[in-house]
Amino acid sequence: MDGEKKIKIALTKGRIEKEAVKIFERAGIDCSEVINKGRKLIFHNRESNIDFVLVKAPDVLTYVEHGVVDIGIVGKDTLLEQDKNFYEVLDLGFGKCKFSLAGLEDSDFYSGYNRKKIATKYPNVARNYFRKLGQDVEIIKIEGSVELAPILGLADAIVDIVETGSTLKENGLVIYKDICSISARMVVNMASMKMKKEEIEKIIGRVQRQINEKEKVSR
Ligand code: PRP
Repeated sequence: MDGEKKIKIALTKGRIEKEAVKIFERAGIDCSEVINKGRKLIFHNRESNIDFVLVKAPDVLTYVEHGVVDIGIVGKDTLLEQDKNFYEVLDLGFGKCKFSLAGLEDSDFYSGYNRKKIATKYPNVARNYFRKLGQDVEIIKIEGSVELAPILGLADAIVDIVETGSTLKENGLVIYKDICSISARMVVNMASMKMKKEEIEKIIGRVQRQINEKEKVSR
């Protein structure tokens, strides 16, 4: 490890953190401190010279863009929503879900000429989707439980993440159109990629091998 530069990695707290830790552990990077974390948010690993920090998804990109961490592990949904600078280097193959346009089962979103209202936690994703279609819509930002918006009459449809589909189903909503697939990604700060090239490429290589192994097994 002598002479190797320290690498800081920001993990999205929660489910992504748990899956990422599994991949890092398989790649031979000790994450035992993260696993037994208590309320701690930063973990130094002297052996691998890697620090892990735990943050919320949008903050991963803020820390990466500012270069205070070198690597971030975050969902593609966050990358699409946030206009930030970074290199996206790996699709980690977990946290799979999709962005969909959805609404009430018994209403016809595509009928009529009125300007539709779209509720979402992801205004940029929704705006870009409808811009590409050339459709003028009103975007209403909601912080959570977006499924309520069409039920309460706030919006004609929602743009939201669908994983199992059960939240939609249990609330009487259906998918009108799938927008794009989502999974967890590894992103790298642009300067770190140059300044710490060797160390970062080593981590990318080790993680990539684990992803390839996992894919081979599941084939
Ligand atoms: C997400 C998303 C959906 C739900 C989809 O919400 O916004 O509501 O998960 O999952 P499913 O297809 O497996 O049912 P989250 O759990 O993050 O809660 P929130 O809506 O309060 O943000």
